Amino acid sequence: MSSPTLLDSNHKPQGAPESKASKNASEMALVHNVVLRGLNCIYLQAPNVTDPKDIADFMLFCDAWSCVLHSHHLTEETVYFPLLEGQCQEKGVMSRNHAEHEAFLPGLLRFDAFVSRVKDSGEPYDAAELIKIIDTFGGALERHLHHEIEGLVGLEKDQSIDWDLVGKSMAQHSKKVADRVREVPFIITNSDMTYESGIHGVRFPPFPWFVHQIFRWVYVPQLQGAWRFSSCDDYGLPKELPFA
Ligand SMILES: [Fe+2]
Repeated sequence: MSSPTLLDSNHKPQGAPESKASKNASEMALVHNVVLRGLNCIYLQAPNVTDPKDIADFMLFCDAWSCVLHSHHLTEETVYFPLLEGQCQEKGVMSRNHAEHEAFLPGLLRFDAFVSRVKDSGEPYDAAELIKIIDTFGGALERHLHHEIEGLVGLEKDQSIDWDLVGKSMAQHSKKVADRVREVPFIITNSDMTYESGIHGVRFPPFPWFVHQIFRWVYVPQLQGAWRFSSCDDYGLPKELPFA
């Protein structure tokens, strides 16, 4: 698998005010880019992790990445797409995305089983096997993450969609169910504040500065070793990958 391509997270037509549909597409692209950066961090660093302490931290990083992905797709399937499906004129939004989720799920579950065997059962870490597993589903996952954004942009002309309701429902539910130790620190340390000249820094990750600060002080340090594998520091500034 080659390095996944990041998504354009600026869907506002040039010179035009941002529509609610393009705001939704941009915010979804920002989340998807966190997943793509994380996958890239895993793929590039997996072959060079050899020390037992580093392997233990790397497995925590892999586990957090999977937690973010599962949680995002569960919220889409239970909140976001049912709401969209109920409002938009074109039917099939829900089933299309569900089918794409199902396409890479077996590979993702093999990834989870690998991580669990090494992390919880003490099995030896085999980088070649991990890479082989990612090769079975990484391409389908990347295509889905891109395809979903194209689908949202394509719904821009549909006047029957209440984008505020759809977007807020997704954000509220995501915040409510987010794992504070694994998921939120993963998102914080893989949200590049400088991406696209930093135009999204203020709104993503979607919480006020003091909440961000609480996470830096209380939650990020709990798995500090794992975040060494992240693409950014806890201020969202890109950093070198220590094992790439
Ligand atoms: Fe999504």
